[in-house]
Amino acid sequence: MKIHKFLGYAACPILISIFLYRCGPGEGNRQNREDYIKYNQYLVEGKRLYLLHCSNCHQENGKGLGRLYPPLKDSDYLKNMDNLYKVVCSIKYGQSEVIIVNGISYNQPMPANPWLTDLEIAEIITYVYSTWGENEELFTHQKTGRILDSCNH
Ligand code: HEC
Repeated sequence: MKIHKFLGYAACPILISIFLYRCGPGEGNRQNREDYIKYNQYLVEGKRLYLLHCSNCHQENGKGLGRLYPPLKDSDYLKNMDNLYKVVCSIKYGQSEVIIVNGISYNQPMPANPWLTDLEIAEIITYVYSTWGENEELFTHQKTGRILDSCNH
């Protein structure tokens, strides 16, 4: 066998291994890709649920309705992550207290949605915070469930 032919055969598996190692779906990559797909599914489903259960009052564009319904878009209340707990709880159990949004006080009751599941609320939260809360992350149903378990209602 000619030497260059032999080197060709030997090099082939090495090159394939290097290619698979460098370009194949590594464990980390796969996890990232799954999270990314899940995040996008939450966004799509969250938007559908938002249009169904929330946009009547807060409007499709999130701007709210005058002094009656507070805005989600550019809302200092929403952007403040200290209020996440209250927002999650209010979606399931409703809310009726004075709250201040961008310096304006609102005092209409927000209705409860007791039939929404942890997953559906997680999808709504993911959509709302990614769209208007400057917080583009996946809120898992486990995290949402933990908050809902501790709501004061
Ligand atoms: C019937 C009208 C109505 C519906 C439907 C409604 N809300 Fe509200 N929402 C309100 C009112 C009124 C307040 C202020 C409550 C208060 O004063 O305690 C509020 C407050 C909020 C706040 C905190 C204040 C802000 O603007 O940042 C968030 C966030 C919110 N709602 C999200 C939602 C989401 C998400 C849904 C759907 C699951 C929803 N709301 C459905 C009327 C509504």
